[in-house]
Amino acid sequence: MIIESIKDLRHKLKNETAVGFVPTMGYLHDGHLSLIKAAKAENSIVVVSIFVNPTQFAPNEDFDSYPRDLDRDYKLAVDAGADIIFHPSVDEMYVAGASSSVIVEGEITKKLCGASRPTHFKGVTSVVNILFNIVKPHKAYFGQKDAQQAIIIQKMVRDLHMDLEVVVCPIVREADGLAMSSRNIYLNEDERSQALVLRKSLLNALRQVNEGQVTVAALIEGIKEIIGSAPLAQIDYVDILSARDLTDIKTIEDKALAAVAVKFGKTRLIDNIFLSIDEQR
Ligand code: PAJ
Repeated sequence: MIIESIKDLRHKLKNETAVGFVPTMGYLHDGHLSLIKAAKAENSIVVVSIFVNPTQFAPNEDFDSYPRDLDRDYKLAVDAGADIIFHPSVDEMYVAGASSSVIVEGEITKKLCGASRPTHFKGVTSVVNILFNIVKPHKAYFGQKDAQQAIIIQKMVRDLHMDLEVVVCPIVREADGLAMSSRNIYLNEDERSQALVLRKSLLNALRQVNEGQVTVAALIEGIKEIIGSAPLAQIDYVDILSARDLTDIKTIEDKALAAVAVKFGKTRLIDNIFLSIDEQR
């Protein structure tokens, strides 16, 4: 069932004791569906929100053109196990004159996507907080695809003693390795084939770590070199940081996160991989 009002959703969820929640911006693909399936397996009722959140887009970004197809999304979500699709309007979500937001401060929101999209995470944490207040989930599901987003949401939940569990699910990829994204439909044929350098560069870094290369600067250079081999690739960032709190590291000791953002034409793609030293060695 599709529910558009907060009041109706609250009424529907009033007596539920195991609510699984998957927040999305719609145009669902197998990445989103993997979160819905995980939620279905662990909860008695699954709510999927579909809301293209204006506050996480900068004025020059793709809010207006972001792909939307509610009928298609509804069928896909229900088939994957969703019980309720929450599809509010912007006015329903943001009350007139609202002036409150939730900001996670510090390095974790300033690095990576926070550097190139300075207002983005304030929009994300605020809308996710509003959604949590409406849905009151027991478990909420996020994808490792947006690694920084997942780390920030986990920190927000911990810092503010929010009473729910955040579950982070693995990245779902196309058969050739491209991470699934609602934005992949923007890519033309050349951009689509060249976009494979993202995964290739990250897998190469992992291989280098396994062969003993632990110097972060060298690993970053290696990633940049492979991405640079694609003529249409414009690098936004390539970085390797502590996977725990996104602080800078010089060598791979603990678990590290290698993350990239690259533009192909107008389309900005992100991908990431965990790097850690094999304990056997
Ligand atoms: P959206 O980009 O629609 O993504 C919704 C969820 O699906 C996020 O948790 C994201 O990490 C996950 N996801 C996307 N692609 C994935 C993939 N290939 N594999 C696994 N999971 C994937 O992220 C947002 O929306 C918004 O910022 C939101 C949290 C809804 C707040 O507006």
